[in-house]
Amino acid sequence: MKIKTVGIIGTGTMGLGMAHVFAQAGRNVVAVKATPGSTEKAEATLAGGFSRLVDRGKMEASERDAILDRVTVTTDEGAVADCELVVESIIEDIATKKALFERLEDICTPEALLTSNTSTLSVTAMMAVCKHRGRVAGLHFFNPAPVMKLVEIIHAFETTDTTLQVLDEFCKDIGKDPVIVQDTTGFIVNRLLTPYMLNAIRMLERGTGTIESIDQAMKLGAGLPMGPFELADYIGLDVVEAMSSNIFEDVRSEHHAPPHTLTRLRQLGYLGRKTKKGFYDYSQKPPVQNPDLAHPFA
Ligand code: CAA
Repeated sequence: MKIKTVGIIGTGTMGLGMAHVFAQAGRNVVAVKATPGSTEKAEATLAGGFSRLVDRGKMEASERDAILDRVTVTTDEGAVADCELVVESIIEDIATKKALFERLEDICTPEALLTSNTSTLSVTAMMAVCKHRGRVAGLHFFNPAPVMKLVEIIHAFETTDTTLQVLDEFCKDIGKDPVIVQDTTGFIVNRLLTPYMLNAIRMLERGTGTIESIDQAMKLGAGLPMGPFELADYIGLDVVEAMSSNIFEDVRSEHHAPPHTLTRLRQLGYLGRKTKKGFYDYSQKPPVQNPDLAHPFA
């Protein structure tokens, strides 16, 4: 099956990142804004991403215009009816996602592949509300989607081999390097990355080092593009806390529970880059470590 038109439900960072990738790879995209409000901001964000490439001489303006012509942003979920593949990227809440999958079963053809970009929720639980279960799988992209090469294709309990094969070919076709992963909480990357970030926060709480020294150590000593605090701020502290809670729910090991500092920052609305404050204060250029976290407070 050739996937020509892709539906995306949710126009947050990941939804728009995937829209960027699919449209640039020549696919038609129907992106559905899942929360109330106009589509203007999503359209502007998407156009802005391609215009930056034009400004930096990486893309002709005519190519940008042709790519944007392939994308429809809408508030009408029914607009994904003719898509061969739908990826949901809505709020990380299992009840909301299950309700969406139930609606997609009615909206889409029985052959359409229905997938989730969830980070740590059970794809099998979403599959369970569907009549045609073999076509349900996970398709987990990484932020920033246009840059990160990996896609985790999640093999849920009744996902068919054909579905996995079509998704594998599709990912390779759009320039990604997919891996197939069994449907376990956090899959591969987040199952390893989440405890790594939590351990860094506990290290900060114990006073082993500062935010900057721990980040610098991991960048220079382990060859990583971002340190654990830069990465947590980049992902979003609400997302990191939710991933931690979901993994903790599953394994019930204290090691995976959200540390005190992470929860406190989230309670204060300091969610990282998107709120301009988290472990770092992004109102300063270059960002400085959040002064309230300069002392251990476990
Ligand atoms: N959209 C498109 N292109 C982007 C981009 C974006 N949002 N962000 C960066 N880029 C491109 C730049 O245009 C640049 O391209 P060229 O080299 O062709 O000019 C390139 O990426 C490098 O960008 P910068 O020079 O601006 O910055 P950098 O070298 O510091 O790299 C980074 C930025 C790619 C984000 C890098 O720091 C990085 O790889 N960080 C780690 C990201 C990571 O680990 N992501 C996974 C998070 S976990 C997750 O997503 C899963 C989950 O479920 C929560």
